[in-house]
Amino acid sequence: MAASNSHSASSFLFIVSFAVLVIFTGSSSAQLSKNFYSKSCPKVFSTVKSVVHSAISKQPRQGASLHRLHFHNCFVNQGCDGSVLLDDTPTFTGEKTAAPNNGSIRAFEVVDEIKSKIEKECPGVVSCADILAIAARDSVKILGGPKWDVKLGRRDSKTASFSAANNGVIPPPSSTLSILITRFKAKGLSTKDMVALSGAHTIGKARCIIFRDRIYNDTNIDISFAKTRQNKCPRTTGLPGDNKISHLDLQTPTAFDNYYYKNLIKQKGLLRSDQQLFNGGSTKSLVKKYSQDTETFYFDFVNAMIKMGDIQPLTGSSGEIRKNCRKMNN
Ligand code: HEM
Ligand SMILES: *[C@@H]1O[C@H](CO)[C@@H](O)[C@H](O)[C@H]1NC(C)=O
Ligand SMILES: *[C@@H]1O[C@H](CO)[C@@H](O)[C@H](O)[C@H]1NC(C)=O
Repeated sequence: MAASNSHSASSFLFIVSFAVLVIFTGSSSAQLSKNFYSKSCPKVFSTVKSVVHSAISKQPRQGASLHRLHFHNCFVNQGCDGSVLLDDTPTFTGEKTAAPNNGSIRAFEVVDEIKSKIEKECPGVVSCADILAIAARDSVKILGGPKWDVKLGRRDSKTASFSAANNGVIPPPSSTLSILITRFKAKGLSTKDMVALSGAHTIGKARCIIFRDRIYNDTNIDISFAKTRQNKCPRTTGLPGDNKISHLDLQTPTAFDNYYYKNLIKQKGLLRSDQQLFNGGSTKSLVKKYSQDTETFYFDFVNAMIKMGDIQPLTGSSGEIRKNCRKMNN
């Protein structure tokens, strides 16, 4: 009895250590490197940049939308695996219609354009997941934010997860601070990473349906700010009002700066979840710091972007290199 107990204890230990090893190997970014395509597709950086640049010059919001795609890509399914880009088919439900994404994520045509140019230059080499990582980086840079070296070598998934995308992984805009912290922690990102990454809401737009309750019902909101936002977001639910869009950062909507944090201090966060970061909780001092110190914000943002890009990549011979980002190869 005793012998059998100690035997099962040691095999339990073995299984646990094996699982730990697998988890660490699975989430390791050892195989990602900034030079991944230097021989196989040397023009990848210039090609992505030129398409992102022209998309943003036509419509600055595209930079925000591309940036957000990378976030939603990395959080759901097998890390930054291109799962968010898969179109639904009659026999396949991907992530595009999940609650945080449906009618919300965009810029897929920009990704298509990048992909088709790169397929001409180096067919079958560059993953859609890496394209999103580069496009997210370039968008921030073009809109005036920091630059960084992006690590590459991710592969594309042959799966997607509607259920993960729909519930439990991406935090909703109604999140409390503790939910925000927990959801990022589940992806290996710290509270500091979460606060820094939220600074991405210094660019881009949100729909009335997302922030209606906040601007009509919340008390931790600047009154004149709420009034201004109410002009473009009717109280009554329904279309077309629900889809009216508004800048996340009213002050400098297309500049990647630290106004997001300055706004929070004035109780001018557009989303409930935004204002949670400066509402008396543990993240208050960091928000204050970032609002006063752009360099520190940029430093922590870049660090967190690299960490987010490292979430569980498919590498080596896992997954595939999609020919078309919207569908799996046959
Ligand atoms: C902290 C938790 C977060 C919540 C609750 C959240 C929620 C949202 C919501 C609700 C929208 C507006 C969607 C719509 O109205 O259709 C939005 C937009 C946006 N989010 Fe977040 N987000 C979070 C974190 C992030 C992170 C980490 C990033 C990137 C690093 C990011 C980047 C963006 C961008 C750029 C937009 C504007 C997109 C556009 O204009 O197309 N967000 N977010
Ligand atoms: C996605 O949005 C469309 C258009 O608003 C709606 O008809 C559809 O039911 C939504 N899908 C899901 C899964 O909620
Ligand atoms: C505000 O709160 C009231 C009472 O809880 C609720 O009925 C209403 O739907 C909420 N939202 C708006 C936009 O008024």
